Amino acid sequence: MSEAIDVDPIESKIWITLTINGSKNSYFVEQRLTLADFLRKEVGLVGTHLGCEHGSCGACTIIMDDKAVRSCLLLAVQADGASLETVEGLARDGAMTPLQEAFRAHHALQCGYCTSGILLSLVARLREGPIETEAEARESLSGNICRCTGYTGMVSALLSLSNSKSGDEEKQ
Ligand code: FES
Ligand code: FES
Repeated sequence: MSEAIDVDPIESKIWITLTINGSKNSYFVEQRLTLADFLRKEVGLVGTHLGCEHGSCGACTIIMDDKAVRSCLLLAVQADGASLETVEGLARDGAMTPLQEAFRAHHALQCGYCTSGILLSLVARLREGPIETEAEARESLSGNICRCTGYTGMVSALLSLSNSKSGDEEKQ
């Protein structure tokens, strides 16, 4: 018979410091807590969604230090010292970003469950350079699964950005 492992719930927690959507704070977190669960349950940022919870669907995508990451595959403690961006940080003073406006205008979402992860993936991608062709648009969406839209509206939204100054604004 195996012996029970005695884990002190207090001792298993450590302090981390994070900047989330521009606000720097310290948090006392369970070392086994995923970054996705930390954002949703400890910080209250429930716009980061969970689908597969093993890195396949992209619903949990956020930006960490300018790179799109799957927050279900990281522990919160691994993000100590990092700067995070979630979907809640995109709009400024209630005004949607050009990318969000393009998604709305081109009916690029239905249930919206995948949308926050897709938007964050695309924000990171657009900071690397414009998306100008359908092939580039589909490639940029290839890491995120949407069960509703068929992706056509998202491709249209992205191509509309390449024809406007708004695409440049997403890089900021
Ligand atoms: S929930 Fe993280 S990739 Fe699916
Ligand atoms: S809009 Fe429903 S999963 Fe993408």
